[in-house]
Amino acid sequence: MKLNIAVLPGDGIGPEVTAQAIKVLKAIAMEFNHVFTFNKALVGASAMDSFEVPLPEETISICEQADAILFGAIGDPKYDNDPSATVRPEQGLLGLRKTFDLYTNIRPVIAYEDLLNKSSLKIKQIKGTDILIYRELASGIYFGEKHFSNEEASDICVYRRSEIERIAHLAFKAAQGRKRKLTLVDKANVLASSKLWRTVVNEIAQQYQDVTYDCMYIDNAAMELIINPRQFDVILTENMFGDILSEEASVIVGSIGLLASASIGDKYAMFEPIHGAYTKATNKGIANPIASILSAAMLLDHFGLYDEAALVREGVDKSLKLHITTPDLNTKYDNISTTKVGDFIEDFINNPDETNLNFTNIHLGQSTII
Ligand code: IPM
Ligand code: MN
Repeated sequence: MKLNIAVLPGDGIGPEVTAQAIKVLKAIAMEFNHVFTFNKALVGASAMDSFEVPLPEETISICEQADAILFGAIGDPKYDNDPSATVRPEQGLLGLRKTFDLYTNIRPVIAYEDLLNKSSLKIKQIKGTDILIYRELASGIYFGEKHFSNEEASDICVYRRSEIERIAHLAFKAAQGRKRKLTLVDKANVLASSKLWRTVVNEIAQQYQDVTYDCMYIDNAAMELIINPRQFDVILTENMFGDILSEEASVIVGSIGLLASASIGDKYAMFEPIHGAYTKATNKGIANPIASILSAAMLLDHFGLYDEAALVREGVDKSLKLHITTPDLNTKYDNISTTKVGDFIEDFINNPDETNLNFTNIHLGQSTII
């Protein structure tokens, strides 16, 4: 298959983690005889430095011509101290989501067996967790009319029926291929927009009788996600609730550096880790590239390259099993860098039948394992 991939590394740790995902995609292309081409473009603070805008026209046009977009991270603390600033790096990401109408953001939350002890939660609570969060991404309070003055400010949350319907169908279909349960998370006891979500999703649920459907208020869901995450299969929710819940869910997985996502529209698709730019870690080699690598696996799945995606995930699993991981997860070995993790997974894709001992020897050096 030929795929033209627009690469938007963005800010902070974005470039270094994206470089590992590209490495992995190149290894997959080589192994499976695909032709993947990569076209880089600027977004976020790095685009503002040269173009003064966070989403330059040139970037939009590179994305328009691509089959998929691979996104890194966005944000720079130098913009955080001026709340009245009208242009912020984050607008680059929001602009991409809006321009390409990427309305469905899919965020898997899986408690890996090998990482259960990395979570600050109890193992017996999180073991077996496997959740798919369907977060609406192109509407709601993020995109409603905004007003700001030093005396008064407002953000309007608008949802249209059609915007709820289109993601709801996708979420129910996803549930049909899993444990057949869907939980709508809203605040329908207070918010009008949530009442519309509940009305519309209640109706759509009738068309998916094989899916067990329930609803939960966001405040309660935030607690249930921590005390009993296994009760969830697919969570469907609006933009801001999905943002907050998915970051909370990273506590179950052990590190936010592991959470990948796919942002899908009818015509375009973008693949992005859920973490931010983590500017303090830039170029220190400590950023976890797995969220970016797993986002690349979601890209492969999106194009029906299931064996390829499975091999990437096997490589990730192997790296976790052998502790070839960055310091956010590693208590066994020092100095496993971002690049090293990428090298390991690349090597696994090229030699999946190699023994664990050989992998460990090659990637850690004899002296480290004695
Ligand atoms: C995310 C991020 C973004 C969001 C920010 C960077 C605008 O937190 O993808 O979860 O709020 O959606
Ligand atoms: Mn977020």
